[in-house]
Amino acid sequence: MSNNLVTRILVASLAMIICSPAGWAQEANYDESKVGQYTLPDPLVCCDGAPVKDAQTWQQKRRPEILKLFEEYMYGKAPGKPQSMTFMTTSVNKEALNGLATRKEVTVYFTGRQQDPNMNILIYLPNKATKPVPLFVGLNFGGNQAISTDPGITISKSWMANSKPDGITDHRATAASRGKEASRWPVERILERGYGLATIYYGDIDPDFDDGFKNGVQPLFYKEGQTRPAPNEWGSIAAWAWGLSRAMDYFQTDSDIDAKKVAVLGHSRLGKTSLWAGATDERFALVISNDSGCGGAALSRRNFGETVQRINTSFPHWFCTNFKKYNGKEGDLPVDQHMLIALIAPRPVYVASAEEDRWADPRGEFLSAKLAGPIYKLLGAAPLPIEDMPAVSQPAMGEVAYHIRPGKHDVTNYDWDRYMDFADKHLKNK
Ligand code: GCU
Repeated sequence: MSNNLVTRILVASLAMIICSPAGWAQEANYDESKVGQYTLPDPLVCCDGAPVKDAQTWQQKRRPEILKLFEEYMYGKAPGKPQSMTFMTTSVNKEALNGLATRKEVTVYFTGRQQDPNMNILIYLPNKATKPVPLFVGLNFGGNQAISTDPGITISKSWMANSKPDGITDHRATAASRGKEASRWPVERILERGYGLATIYYGDIDPDFDDGFKNGVQPLFYKEGQTRPAPNEWGSIAAWAWGLSRAMDYFQTDSDIDAKKVAVLGHSRLGKTSLWAGATDERFALVISNDSGCGGAALSRRNFGETVQRINTSFPHWFCTNFKKYNGKEGDLPVDQHMLIALIAPRPVYVASAEEDRWADPRGEFLSAKLAGPIYKLLGAAPLPIEDMPAVSQPAMGEVAYHIRPGKHDVTNYDWDRYMDFADKHLKNK
């Protein structure tokens, strides 16, 4: 065979690998030396070229500008609080978990109509509390009943992806799903440290598959004749974040909860969601990103692990339609993810990675946290107190915090213990 032919065959098979869905993962770069050169947009230079030199210019001009860019080109714009929304407490048990906690379940009717999409919040509050408690809130993947083996939790009735090992059959959770996610939700540990915990099944807000936005909350807000969100309107991540804000609306009405001390957290796609919720809703006092990766804390311009093109191809419903213009063109994005962290400033933010979670690009997550530092400084808050990426299990905490722990893509007790140390400092004891 001629060299020429060999080259042509090689090129053709490489093209097949790269262009097939199964090939995307193989194609991903995990070689630091191949990340390439990139130039990040400067969060402290306004669109008209004016430098940001004081807190006021940041708050009044640059921050709104960046927020708008993220809405327009990445996550999509969500509506505000629906006027007709109602809350209904459906259960209260003051002796849950052997008397450790009060368990409440609250249904949020977004439109006030019971037949429309609605979400169920599961809340645990420590019984030893003598005043309204600080609280962690996060969405879950498998239904509220999956976070604990507590038999009193109502089993979700919402659509779920089938999974025999997780106890989901015919797209519905069964009793076998109880506690399947418990390792990610150390409920007793959280309560013992004096925090409340609230969680919601993310599929209550928008089921996680691409159906052209027929189900979920988006249709509730379509204008006459509209059949899907406009190119700059909300995808699923923005919808999930919007649901977290609706939970916050409820917390503000519950006198057992200190709504000024609510930390929002999430893992993976739900970590992308917690960051966007924290960016768009300043009522969240502390924000945690657990292994959020591409579209979350990781810089989009770094070619390492998951890319914009890959995420938009695998999950076309997560971001707004405009974001697809940046497939393979990350350098054209008017923002990058350090600016998402900057939107949270000066509120405390924790970015966490896992060593084996290379798909999420731990270094890219660290860099975003690091590069949001100048904005924290400008607003009088402490940036990450380290220059370089730390070794595993060496958490660094200013008002921006970061750790990388050994192990895989997951939420572990190690992660939770650090988040609670951080919250003790910035929420509970403040
Ligand atoms: C996929 C996806 C990630 C996402 C993850 C998750 O791996 O590519 O972007 O974070 O799922 O949510 O578990």
